[in-house]
Amino acid sequence: MNLIDSIKANAKANPRTIVLPEGEAERTLKAANQIMEEQFAKLILIGSKSTILKKAEEWDLPLIKNIEIYDPSSDPRHPEMIDLLLKIRTSKGLQRPEAEKLCSDPLYLGPLLIKAGYAQGEVSGAENATGDVLRPAFQIVKTAPNSSVVSGAFIMLVKDKQFGTDGVMVFADCAVNPNPNAQQLAEIAVASAQTAKAIAKIDPRVAMLSFSTKGSGAHADVDKVVEATRIAREMAPELKIDGELQADAAIIESIGSKKAPGSEIAGKANVLVFPTLDAGNIGYKLVQRLAGAEAVGPVLQGMAAPINDLSRGCSVDDIVNLVAITVNQAY
Ligand code: ACO
Repeated sequence: MNLIDSIKANAKANPRTIVLPEGEAERTLKAANQIMEEQFAKLILIGSKSTILKKAEEWDLPLIKNIEIYDPSSDPRHPEMIDLLLKIRTSKGLQRPEAEKLCSDPLYLGPLLIKAGYAQGEVSGAENATGDVLRPAFQIVKTAPNSSVVSGAFIMLVKDKQFGTDGVMVFADCAVNPNPNAQQLAEIAVASAQTAKAIAKIDPRVAMLSFSTKGSGAHADVDKVVEATRIAREMAPELKIDGELQADAAIIESIGSKKAPGSEIAGKANVLVFPTLDAGNIGYKLVQRLAGAEAVGPVLQGMAAPINDLSRGCSVDDIVNLVAITVNQAY
């Protein structure tokens, strides 16, 4: 059974309710129909009920009629959502007219349905930019108790099985924090190791990436990665982690043993933590496109409830897979 199939099987054994705010969009509806066929999640679609049902008929998606729909124009829970948003954001200066306006936005309603307990996770972003998906999630669901920063990891399924663990690797942060400081980078490393264990089902060996290996370069950016490695070790003493390492030293045994002799990670890393979002986002896309790797995610880590953001170039299968992952994160 491949990784995605085992994630789906796990979800099917214990389905959770996932809200899909882009409920009127073609790819979302096709994915929702497929998820109903595969029965690994319960769903809430947000959108106009009549539009959704009409489109489902037009595109021959017979199972959509069995899915719960939250129609902002008529759902009896709508006043509750407005009150909840006001309760959460009054201290930030939010007033009722603005709260009413925000609650017509499905990207606000999704996190509100989670916060109110009607759903346990969300997947969106097929039609919306990352920032627009994340901002309401950060404002409403917020970070998990021991976390101060949300980050985005990709599970990379690399064709060449000599890399990572049989070709399975985790890359982070590829989606959220443009320039994390040392403390944030350490948190990202610890969270990525958890994602590697819980979702990618691999025993994490974390490399803190840099343009320098063990002092080969001297720069404040190198110091940041060294300090982040120290903090991560303090936060999670059992974690297998090393840095700073260049990418080749992290993943190629012969180079790792030469540049970082004695390191238990160099040459064997399966979790790569990038020093900036530039590096992480560019890095995962190059591996995906040039090496033909499958990039699953981004899986958001550090949030109080799982909310995951799709790329706008995503396929129906990408949506289906990310919903399965989100169910697994909701446990
Ligand atoms: N973790 C946790 N909370 C956060 C984070 C974070 N990383 N960033 C912001 N927040 C919180 C803030 O504390 C704030 O909360 P509050 O209002 O309750 O005080 C709230 O979110 C809004 O914060 P702002 O600073 O106003 O948010 P900002 O407008 O800077 O947006 C965002 C944050 C959207 C995540 C921004 O950092 C961003 O756009 N990041 C890059 C996303 C991106 O474009 N990624 C690349 C594409 S993804 C891909 O290719 C797969």
